[in-house]
Amino acid sequence: MLLVSLSFLAVALLPFPVDGFPQSAAVAANGGGGGVASGIPNVTDAKNPVCVPWYGIRDAIMGSIFQGRCGDNARAAIRLAFHDAGTFSLALQANALPNGAADGSLLVDPNEVLRSENNGLQNIVSLLKPLPTQFGVSPGDLLHLAGVLAVLACPGGPVIPAYVGRNAPKNIAPTGLLPDPEQSVSVLLARFADMGFESREVMALIGAHTAGKQRFVDPAVANTSFDTTVQIWDTRFYTETANTTVDLPGTFKLDSDVNFATNPTTTQDFHGFIGNQDNWMSEYAAAHEKMSLLGFQANDLTDCSELLPLAIDLKNLAVATTGGGQAPTDPVIDPVKLEAAIQQFRSIWLVPQ
Ligand code: HEM
Ligand SMILES: *[C@@H]1O[C@H](CO)[C@@H](O)[C@H](O)[C@H]1NC(C)=O
Ligand SMILES: *[C@@H]1O[C@H](CO)[C@@H](O)[C@H](O)[C@H]1NC(C)=O
Ligand SMILES: *[C@@H]1O[C@H](CO)[C@@H](O)[C@H](O)[C@H]1NC(C)=O
Repeated sequence: MLLVSLSFLAVALLPFPVDGFPQSAAVAANGGGGGVASGIPNVTDAKNPVCVPWYGIRDAIMGSIFQGRCGDNARAAIRLAFHDAGTFSLALQANALPNGAADGSLLVDPNEVLRSENNGLQNIVSLLKPLPTQFGVSPGDLLHLAGVLAVLACPGGPVIPAYVGRNAPKNIAPTGLLPDPEQSVSVLLARFADMGFESREVMALIGAHTAGKQRFVDPAVANTSFDTTVQIWDTRFYTETANTTVDLPGTFKLDSDVNFATNPTTTQDFHGFIGNQDNWMSEYAAAHEKMSLLGFQANDLTDCSELLPLAIDLKNLAVATTGGGQAPTDPVIDPVKLEAAIQQFRSIWLVPQ
């Protein structure tokens, strides 16, 4: 499914290099450049009529809520996508019991967001909550488009296929299904297996912590991040978490993440993503796509990936000394190039700094 979707995108967007960056056919059709949005498909070029209303929803989320950046609202929206979908259980489904799903129940039920495991998600929920009614769409579609866009708001974040057509949540998500950082690797992997994920997919998904901060695990050091480059979607989370001899200033290691890095069943996959941005991006995108569909079937939904902006390729942003022909492990990103790419590829959503 992923390969099909991504190759569709590659064909649809016909990337060709402009100043070292791929640019989309949609942009070229608009004349590109000149202050017009780069790499952001325009509704005037929409292909599937079902997707047309979603361009405006995209802009409401990326503009008003994320302001085109990998900030607090984007990181919260990524976690929200997981906490909404991660209450899905194959075992509950098999027994026809009330189940979780990627259904947006977190935007609908007033009590679900108040659970302690959802601490820190209240603000993003209050920002997203009015949108399904405002635009006449389902909460699951809205919430999971927000998750996909949030990953793209983080430079380096991949394009994850975006679907619409989920129906309204059937019930509040059952309790006790979201992972806790003090659970063992075997307990955590069993819970993810009950969602339908293999161990390697979990190691890919956990890399979302590249854009994460903690506030409630150790409130004394609130806002410490899970890697030193929280503003970009890079593999440094894996590198730095795996380095058990050094705790870098301003960062925080969750016990579960350290356990994944060191446990014999997960260490190889965890280490395998270090410095391996391309593999991680594609495996993360596939796993996140699957997460965004838990409890649903892609065949029942419409793929509206046509409205997604281009991913920002971190390789183009490395400082010259770490660049050269070969991609170094964890290239140092030039802040000037990074900001220029954000200005170019997320232009319509940015607010003046
Ligand atoms: C073993 C599985 C996981 C555990 C135990 C875990 C645990 C946590 C904890 C304790 C926090 C910090 C919350 C706070 O104190 O504010 C956090 C943050 C975060 N998690 Fe996870 N997580 C897991 C998997 C995931 C997955 C699969 C994703 C997404 C695909 C994800 C995305 C995030 C993000 C983006 C944040 C940062 C939120 C923010 O900064 O507002 N996590 N996670
Ligand atoms: C979409 O294209 C129209 C017509 O070319 C243009 O007026 C508008 O500004 C474009 N919108 C975006 C978001 O680029
Ligand atoms: C953490 O960050 C939030 C917003 O980003 C801020 O309001 C809060 O004061 C910060 N807390 C600490 C302890 O720095
Ligand atoms: C851990 O990080 C330190 C400081 O950056 C570095 O000197 C050391 O080689 C790293 N260890 C491993 C195993 O990568």
